[in-house]
Amino acid sequence: MRIQEKARARCHWLPALDKNQDTLYLALADHLAADIAAGKMKPGDRLPPQRLLADALGVTLGTVTRAYREAERRGLTEARVGSGTRVRGQQADEPKFHHLSRASADSIDLSLSVPIPNPQRSLLLSECLQQLSRQPQTMQLMLSYQPEQGNAAQRELLAAWMTQHGLTVSAEELLLTDGGQHADYLAMQALIRPGEAVASAALTYPGMIAVARQLGLKHLPVATDHQGIRPDALERLCQQQKIRLLYIMPEYNNPSGEHMCEARREAIVKIARRHDLLLLEDGVQYVIPEQRGTPFYQLAPERSLYIFSVSKMIEGGMRFGALRAPGNLMPRLCAALRAQCWSVPGLMGAVVCQWLTSGKVDELINWQWQQVSLRQQRVSHWLGAYEPVAHPYGFHAWLKLPEPWRAVDFVGQAAQRGVTLIASDPFCVGSHPAPQAVRICVTPPESIEQLDKGLQQLANLLEEGPSHAAPLV
Ligand SMILES: Cc1ncc(COP(=O)(O)O)c(C=O)c1O
Repeated sequence: MRIQEKARARCHWLPALDKNQDTLYLALADHLAADIAAGKMKPGDRLPPQRLLADALGVTLGTVTRAYREAERRGLTEARVGSGTRVRGQQADEPKFHHLSRASADSIDLSLSVPIPNPQRSLLLSECLQQLSRQPQTMQLMLSYQPEQGNAAQRELLAAWMTQHGLTVSAEELLLTDGGQHADYLAMQALIRPGEAVASAALTYPGMIAVARQLGLKHLPVATDHQGIRPDALERLCQQQKIRLLYIMPEYNNPSGEHMCEARREAIVKIARRHDLLLLEDGVQYVIPEQRGTPFYQLAPERSLYIFSVSKMIEGGMRFGALRAPGNLMPRLCAALRAQCWSVPGLMGAVVCQWLTSGKVDELINWQWQQVSLRQQRVSHWLGAYEPVAHPYGFHAWLKLPEPWRAVDFVGQAAQRGVTLIASDPFCVGSHPAPQAVRICVTPPESIEQLDKGLQQLANLLEEGPSHAAPLV
């Protein structure tokens, strides 16, 4: 009894648990949810150590452990090695990132990773729709339900195009999706159970962070160097806990721009095999074939998935992509897709396939690569002295700010000068500290002249340094 009294005195969160219930751990998790909703437990508040709470409530340690696990699965809390379990700071329905521009009409938007504006695309789309409307078989296809894996003829065409462009795949290995974000969600929903752990570079694509949150997965950061994920850090993490999947962008990491050499890819494959990790490679930020390394699915076909999308080649509104997966995982992926929406619509696939076979997609991406490379040269011209990290054909550059800049001040002061940017915060996994850095997207402005204006403003800001308000005394 004295133990319980002492424990009760030390416990800062002590719910009135009715012990006459069958599933005590669920009741305990429900109490926590109610206290968070009522504001009694706030984001960042630490939960009592499990043993202490068990003693205080007079229940077994196992009950508290299961309750904490359940709370984490529901997205209420986050557990950190060495710092216990805390109430989660941001709930899944409060996105930290946006897929639509938040720039005002009169500002220069350098915030979004989107294709370079090109009026040619909408003309091509109307031509293509007119042609398709005269093909009775295609019209019927658009009206019919499709197989979960996607229309077989479209998969054949896409596989042939990908193979021709250095991404050798067969139609059987592809599953059609509504774009890259859907492929990311589908893979994790189908293959990882709530509460299980996935890992990625500590700075990663915010859409992946959102998926892990939405699905109640533990998302752990892995330390990086100039080549991306560090094998020693990954090995250590895998020794500490069971990781199910590693999400990876080896060509150039969004946002921090690192490119992985072949030796690094092989080192990661070895670790993946040793610890039975799935590898989910995101190839949405599609780069010129000559500049690409070996995709992971060619190094470790038995455990690798690859995300393909036309969003950066044509436009994001097309919502057309694909997931490459090993044959043994395909039934689970198909079952998940069936549960979500039966199948993706045949219409977008018909349009994309028409463009792929007519060579229009190649024309569009070749034009865009030329333009992107010119735009990256403008970044070097204006900001080269600050050594931004960028791929010569990448949509963005990553700029670590010189002292004493703070990213939030830089973004704020750039906005005052009419330039919209994103700071590092939305890219941070878990509580990984946000570096004083910004992502500069080169593609949204309509012209190089407009990009130049925006970059010049940033260069001026960097040279002048932060303008500080008078210090508080
Ligand atoms: C790395 C990465 N993955 C996935 C996506 C989402 O792709 P989609 O627009 O095809 O859904 C994006 C979009 O910006 C991205 O940058």
